[in-house]
Amino acid sequence: TRTLTVLGIESSCDDTAAAVVRAGSGPAGAEILASVVAGQTELHAAFGGVVPEIAARAHAEKIDLCIEEALMRAGLTLADLDAVAVTSGPGLIGGVMAGVMCARGLAAGAGLPLIGVNHLAGHALTPRLTDGLDFPYLMLLVSGGHCQFLIVEGPESFTRLGGTIDDAPGEAFDKTAKLLALPQPGGPAVETEARAGDPGRFAFPRPLMDRPGCDMSFSGLKTALLRARDGVMENGTLRRADRADLCAGFQAAVADVLAGKSARALAAMRARGLAPSAFAVAGGVAANAAIRARLTALCAGEGLDFVAPPLRLCTDNAAMIAWAGIERLRAGTAPGADLVPRPRWPL
Ligand code: KG4
Ligand code: ZN
Repeated sequence: TRTLTVLGIESSCDDTAAAVVRAGSGPAGAEILASVVAGQTELHAAFGGVVPEIAARAHAEKIDLCIEEALMRAGLTLADLDAVAVTSGPGLIGGVMAGVMCARGLAAGAGLPLIGVNHLAGHALTPRLTDGLDFPYLMLLVSGGHCQFLIVEGPESFTRLGGTIDDAPGEAFDKTAKLLALPQPGGPAVETEARAGDPGRFAFPRPLMDRPGCDMSFSGLKTALLRARDGVMENGTLRRADRADLCAGFQAAVADVLAGKSARALAAMRARGLAPSAFAVAGGVAANAAIRARLTALCAGEGLDFVAPPLRLCTDNAAMIAWAGIERLRAGTAPGADLVPRPRWPL
């Protein structure tokens, strides 16, 4: 079979990334020849969040270098490629535009087809790149910006079963860290503290847990956390042990909600007559060991494979964009169809 080699470009949030993926070789049918990710954490640190203007400028400055680096590591030139795939949404529009403009120039100059990729589709198709999953499968996207359940039935066939109605869990972890004077990003910091804590000491809410459906809510958790914190602080100081208990309680609440709603999402998928080949996760929060353990246990009980791609492919990267491009090429979808940069683009 013919191999396909695709350059992927990603710049929709605060990571500038380029990667080269080749399909039709390698054991899982695909091989990541190079994957370069340049973060911007330092640039935004002083502002307490991603500043769109700063992000867009940094993407425009770094993107060419990332692409050169990716091609060099892969030992290839543009002439060796079959196509260029670029994230054309959803995301911060300045960054998306920087990526699309750069991709357009490269593709036109080298006479290559150009494929617009939905960033969320990139995340959702990653388990096929890493684990060769068959359609259909159930996917939980859980990061600082997203939280949703998707039935993945084809490279362009996604059904959203539900998701957060307010904050994403990663955002909740980050806000919790801030309230407890822990460093950012909050997820790893809260997880580390939680190891020494008692998850049962504080009764945090499990929002929407007993409601039918797969929607979730995480914004109420930070209010509960703030109240609990203020209840145990003395003279403005928080004891180490209290902080650990707060972290453990918060993390247990998030894990409970994600596991409970995952069970509902699986049932909802089966109720549609679809047998999942696996349950897969992606996104930075999928790095959390307590959450992973809950989801692993849930899947074991259901006799289902639990698939979590390696962290560098769970978080934002361009290999997933190149791979989604390959999937679209194979599906025969007209390249270029989705090349209008879009800030919003539901799957
Ligand atoms: O996928 P990601 O790198 O970026 C996007 O949000 O798109 O996810 C980052 C988020 C942050 O909110 C971070 O705090 C969270 O993932 N995170 C974690 C852990 N590691 C990262 N949350 C909980 N536990 C972790 N170990
Ligand atoms: Zn993402």
